[in-house]
Amino acid sequence: MGSVTHTSDAAIARPLVLGIESSCDETAVALVRGDGAIIAQAIASQEAEHAPYGGVVPEIAARAHAERVAPMIAHVMAEAGLSLDEVDAIAATAGPGLIGGVMVGLVSAKALAMAAGKPLLAINHLEGHALSPRLADAGLGFPYLLLLVSGGHCQILAVEGVGQYRRLATTIDDALGEAFDKTAKLLGLGYPGGPAVERLALQGNPKAVPLPRPLKGSPEPHFSFAGLKSAVMRAVESGAHAPADIAASFQQAAVECLIDRLQFALTRAGPSPALVVAGGVAANRAVRAALEAFASANAMRFTAPPLALCTDNAAMIAWAGCERLANEGWTRDGDFAGDPLDFVARPRWPLDASADTVRGAGVKA
Ligand code: KG4
Ligand code: ZN
Repeated sequence: MGSVTHTSDAAIARPLVLGIESSCDETAVALVRGDGAIIAQAIASQEAEHAPYGGVVPEIAARAHAERVAPMIAHVMAEAGLSLDEVDAIAATAGPGLIGGVMVGLVSAKALAMAAGKPLLAINHLEGHALSPRLADAGLGFPYLLLLVSGGHCQILAVEGVGQYRRLATTIDDALGEAFDKTAKLLGLGYPGGPAVERLALQGNPKAVPLPRPLKGSPEPHFSFAGLKSAVMRAVESGAHAPADIAASFQQAAVECLIDRLQFALTRAGPSPALVVAGGVAANRAVRAALEAFASANAMRFTAPPLALCTDNAAMIAWAGCERLANEGWTRDGDFAGDPLDFVARPRWPLDASADTVRGAGVKA
């Protein structure tokens, strides 16, 4: 017996979600449809504002988000040629992140949701990163092993479904993106550091500078990058090495740590059909190449979102909203409530609430 298909099924399966991201230094707005089409999007980086300080200044970030978010929402809606009435839900990052910025995006979403009578979806920024590979790769099903590597996080998660995340590892001190940013600062490459270190590393010898591989081979599952960062500092201060060699050797050490910890996670948690990478550091080509080789050696499908979806963006937030609607039984004609309008912005919000806390907590944003 075939199932009965109602004419409205296709439409119901394709909610349209407006997403807002403002948890760090990118203000972003996107309109995404349930079938993965990005209808319109805008992103404004605050790089220029923060560059003189060598890192993100929370107060400056919050003000910049507040100035930009409303015109950007208007711009995205105009570009799509749609009104808020035609949107099915309003999603915004509700944490974790710099609280001033998160509040700007979340409050904007609440106002729109209230004014238009649409459900609010308060999205965990990390869930946005975790599900973004499914936006880019429609064939990627659950479960998969996720390496989330960004400026604030370095985690391995078993993603078993929407809302089902098991943390297998996290950093006990610095996130990898943070280590890239510090290395860039030490080498005088400015901010943001990751792409600059990657560029300089292309001209260097990855074996030239002896650097540690913290926790490599360790029986605890976690990451650590503080010791690597300190070793980079000593290498810079010694004056004995070319900056390109330091950049290349640092990147090599970081990649080896990632692969070692992934191997450990796989051994411990058992095989997984797919490996997925997300977060800003996933933009790094050396990291991607090593992960691709690791996946292939372990007979895993490998998915990395396109570069623009790796770093912070609003399409991943809108998409996480689409995934939640599909998972939580939303229908266009139903009375889907969404999250309460008094949902409070969260500076910290682990994806796996049951995960043990680790020595250094490791989560900065
Ligand atoms: O996910 P993301 O945009 O923001 C959050 O931290 O949530 O990640 C930003 C981080 C920064 O630390 C940045 O230096 C790093 O990702 N990053 C890179 C590259 N592009 C961005 N790190 C290494 N290589 C890159 N190409
Ligand atoms: Zn992020």
